[in-house]
Amino acid sequence: MILGLGLESSCDETAAAVVRDGREILSNVISSQVDLHREYYGVVPEIASRAHLEIINLLIERALNEAGVRFGDLRYVAATNRPGLVGSLLIALQSAKVISYAMGIPLIGVNHLEAHLYAPFLEGREPVYPHIGLLVSGGNTALYLVRGVGDLELIGRTVDDAVGEAYDKIAKYMDLGYPGGPAIEKLARTATARRILFPKILPEPGDCRFSYSGIKTAVINHLKNNPGADRAEVAYAFQERILEILIRRTFAAARSRGIGTIVVAGGVAANGRLREMLAREKREGEDIILPTPALCTDNAAMVAGIGRHYYAAGLFDRLDLDVRARA
Ligand code: KG4
Repeated sequence: MILGLGLESSCDETAAAVVRDGREILSNVISSQVDLHREYYGVVPEIASRAHLEIINLLIERALNEAGVRFGDLRYVAATNRPGLVGSLLIALQSAKVISYAMGIPLIGVNHLEAHLYAPFLEGREPVYPHIGLLVSGGNTALYLVRGVGDLELIGRTVDDAVGEAYDKIAKYMDLGYPGGPAIEKLARTATARRILFPKILPEPGDCRFSYSGIKTAVINHLKNNPGADRAEVAYAFQERILEILIRRTFAAARSRGIGTIVVAGGVAANGRLREMLAREKREGEDIILPTPALCTDNAAMVAGIGRHYYAAGLFDRLDLDVRARA
């Protein structure tokens, strides 16, 4: 039995988790800073790093207590070191370095995006490779060909906003609060007429890039030109279009490569409408793997989980490992 500690502080969640053998979550504690950033409608880096620093020790203690383990039981410590807000990333990574040095256990720096795509494999499924990984969150929208642990090829990403960011910006414009994704999803469910149609974004064949600035402008112009517009209808039409782009690109990327397994992860993967659309598009022989909504958003269990595979491969990092804003 191998116990690993995972730490995460790349954006606005501080998290610590203990995972057994890379697949069983013994504890998974998260402190969200959403309330601190709400009034700014986005994450303020300075506020984020200070808040991580204030709470991380407490979270580590809680993660160990809830798992019923001590520092001495841990065989490795994994922390997200890329990509993310540099000042925020430093907090989990520094904590991990101290634990690694003090306990004499390996330090493993983890790619946050790879960790997200590992999340569903903490729920009883064996990791499946190769797969197409769609990562959809507030900071990222990207498609990967994942051949194995540490072997990710970026095949497309957004050329402007991330999809979660588009949700958040439109929600801000509509005064729906922050984070915007859940608010827009909820409002869209109440739309009945479903007659508004925003322009379709048609990809060139083989183009795996995403773009959300055009649809965002179309929605804002619609709201400006139609002050009495039914907001539920606008939310519905906006959401249908942005999710449609995700679905098309993802299935096209998988089918053109003859890959039958698709993993979808990140905050936006919690969206119920996205899940419905994926299920509807899926053909015989294709498998769509999604984490439960609780594991879609940032957490440290996914960091400890993927870290277990690096541990098995002896891929350890030195204590001078640095953080990186980009993957
Ligand atoms: O992965 P995540 O927690 O971290 C960041 O990258 O920040 O994702 C947060 C993002 C936010 O943009 C939020 O609006 C979006 O995920 N989100 C959703 C839903 N729940 C969270 N978007 C659409 N539908 C949802 N149900």
